Amino acid sequence: MSTTLAVVGGGVIGLAVAARAVRDGWTVTLYDPSVGSGASWVAGGMLAPLSEGWPGEHDLLALGAQSLARWPEFARSLGVDVFSASGSLTVALDSADAADLRTIAEFVGQQGHELEILGRAQIRELEPSLAQNIRLGLLAPTESAVDNRALITALLQAADGVEFVADTVADLDSLDADQIVVASGAQTATLLPSVPVRAVKGEILRLRRRPSAGEAPTRTIRGSVHGRPIYLVPRGDGLVVGATQYESGQDTQVTVAGVRDLIADAERLMPSIGEYELYEAAAGLRPMSPDGLPVIGRISDRVIVASGHGRNGILLTPITADAVSALLAGDTLPEAKAADPARFPRKGRQE
Ligand code: GLY
Repeated sequence: MSTTLAVVGGGVIGLAVAARAVRDGWTVTLYDPSVGSGASWVAGGMLAPLSEGWPGEHDLLALGAQSLARWPEFARSLGVDVFSASGSLTVALDSADAADLRTIAEFVGQQGHELEILGRAQIRELEPSLAQNIRLGLLAPTESAVDNRALITALLQAADGVEFVADTVADLDSLDADQIVVASGAQTATLLPSVPVRAVKGEILRLRRRPSAGEAPTRTIRGSVHGRPIYLVPRGDGLVVGATQYESGQDTQVTVAGVRDLIADAERLMPSIGEYELYEAAAGLRPMSPDGLPVIGRISDRVIVASGHGRNGILLTPITADAVSALLAGDTLPEAKAADPARFPRKGRQE
């Protein structure tokens, strides 16, 4: 009988998998040179699968909605309040964006989830700090946001009993555990070349409200400016503003252009943002798969992958922990079927 598990990668996915495996009775070693850094440290933490729904993307919506529904119980199991916002509001600045919001509301409504279209007056009443020229809003009352750094701390506590090894794993054959879970985010393909996960860089800003500044929104605010997505996620006494998207290999430097665009775009949604303190700018690498769905499943009798979560790592943490727990028990989680790595051709490669 298998009893030992190696988890490669100590972001929120690896930590949640490791913590759950200890609870399930496994003896777990987690390998990461810098646990809790990387994309998990930089994440905005919004849980927004409904307001990001789009016609045709049924599997992504279903998986995200399943994980959103798991979040309250998952947070309770951590014993710490990690939520930083309740509700999300996506806003339209022009008629094309307004049409998109109506499309999302119709598609997501057809899948059995409720979203509410709001007019100008309703938006102003709910979130008075937002720009007066916003035309339309899409309210998702059940979508919350998670403080990613509080989550990392909570997962580290929950992972009591895991042995942490501060090393990079260069070769899975060097590990002697009965089972291995690869949760190494944007580095996954270096260990599992058949898993088509690439790095998509994202920059974020962290802002703190100064005493003289206007109130921050209480919900996650999302929008689009010049075709660039922008979001403001409440976080303690401030906001996380994100996020740029570039494909530039493993580059994690914050660029002047990235910061400029984030500030300019955020200001279009919330004009008073210039009064806030900018205290951090950071960049992370999202592990993105070709179809935008994560890659969670068996690669071999000994190796499981849990990666490719793209822009949704925090959202998909609970369902990923459940799916990997099922796989380690010799079972599968039906709700995670769309994430099976078997959907990608293996190109004759063995891992
Ligand atoms: N979590 C949203 C993003 O990656 O931009």
